[in-house]
Amino acid sequence: MIKVGIIGSGSMGTGIAQVAATAGHEVLLCDNNPEALKRAKAYLEKIMNRLVEKGRVSRSDGEAILSRIQYVDSVYAYNDTGLVIEAIVENLDIKKAVFEQLEDIVSSDCILASNTSSLSIASIASACKKPERVLGIHFFNPAPLMKLVEVIPAIQTDVSYLTKVTKLIDTWNKEVVVAKDTPGFIVNRVARPFYGEALRIYEEGIADIPTIDWAMTALGGFRMGPFTLMDYIGNDINYTVTETVFKAFYYDPRYKPAFTQKRLSEAGYLGRKTGRGYYDYKEDVEKPEANKDDQLGQQIVDRVVTMLINEAADALYLNIASKEDIDTAMTKGVNYPKGLLKWADEIGIVRVVKRMDDLYQEYLEDRYRCSPLLRKMAKEGKTFF
Ligand SMILES: NC(=O)c1ccc[n+]([C@@H]2O[C@H](COP(=O)([O-])OP(=O)(O)OC[C@H]3O[C@@H](n4cnc5c(N)ncnc54)[C@H](O)[C@@H]3O)[C@@H](O)[C@H]2O)c1
Repeated sequence: MIKVGIIGSGSMGTGIAQVAATAGHEVLLCDNNPEALKRAKAYLEKIMNRLVEKGRVSRSDGEAILSRIQYVDSVYAYNDTGLVIEAIVENLDIKKAVFEQLEDIVSSDCILASNTSSLSIASIASACKKPERVLGIHFFNPAPLMKLVEVIPAIQTDVSYLTKVTKLIDTWNKEVVVAKDTPGFIVNRVARPFYGEALRIYEEGIADIPTIDWAMTALGGFRMGPFTLMDYIGNDINYTVTETVFKAFYYDPRYKPAFTQKRLSEAGYLGRKTGRGYYDYKEDVEKPEANKDDQLGQQIVDRVVTMLINEAADALYLNIASKEDIDTAMTKGVNYPKGLLKWADEIGIVRVVKRMDDLYQEYLEDRYRCSPLLRKMAKEGKTFF
């Protein structure tokens, strides 16, 4: 079994170390900040104790998992690793410098991966002498709990490394999907309307925040409403992802960020972590009531779900991933109640197209353009599955 090196012992690196060690690998976890390494070690010990107490892991297995993780302060120990996953700060220049340095240390067939959420794998790979062994392995937070892993080959990646990595991650009790090296990969691209369209509905005054959240959970079947979820993720982080995707798509209006969220972020109303976001989380504050009008609620769900389906269909149209992988990504990566393409089949493609066209007619904004794939399928009477 190959030795796995992880760079960056922040929230992602620590979680990935736990996943790899649980799958039986010897793991080297490196950080250039000794405090971060100490925190990672203490955190993993605490988590493993909790899993043992709950009976999810036996005491001996828990001890074995922890003993497989070594904490190091530089990547010079990575000479005998078979795979290195980088999970450091989201900065292209710093990542490129780390990859360049790494290549002088690791063996010639060691696979080099980045956990980046938003940077291009092609540009990270370009820092390497052997870019064909570089790819993206994108875990979701928290890595041990979230089933989905997006694997992203760059244009330079040799298919043999892609095959090796997908086979390997499969053995880590994860669902692997393969995504094209484009902004947001699958999940962070297709999920944008869940936030963006909810914000637009709010900004237009069609419904207030608790009503939109109620509609999307009670009628739409989503686990969390968009505003509750944005408060949970953090409005700073969620806003940055939206802005990054928007810029990366050459300012396509479909991904335009909302001032509402920008102002919240600027004000420090980041969500649960600061005690205030769209909602006030102080103990003595009563949660505002939703207007539980079924007709209004259904209108909200239909609009947001239609926009999500349009985004998923367009991702398929542009070959970002297979239809199966797009549906798996949204159910396993962000816990959607159904795959969006399967949902489109259930609603009926003709109806989805009509809803998109109605939105377009109302606003005459490019944001509401219908995916050519949906339009073609409607004409030909086709379904996704
Ligand atoms: N947080 C998420 O929800 C999430 C989800 C998926 C992917 N990601 C991606 O994973 C990566 C890490 O994110 P995070 O949230 O764990 O960040 P984090 O800030 O929690 O951790 C980053 C760690 O990297 C260390 N570091 C920075 N530069 C380093 C270097 N040159 N060498 C060694 N260590 C270095 C820092 O000390 C820090 O401990 C980013 O690329 C991010 O985009 C994050």
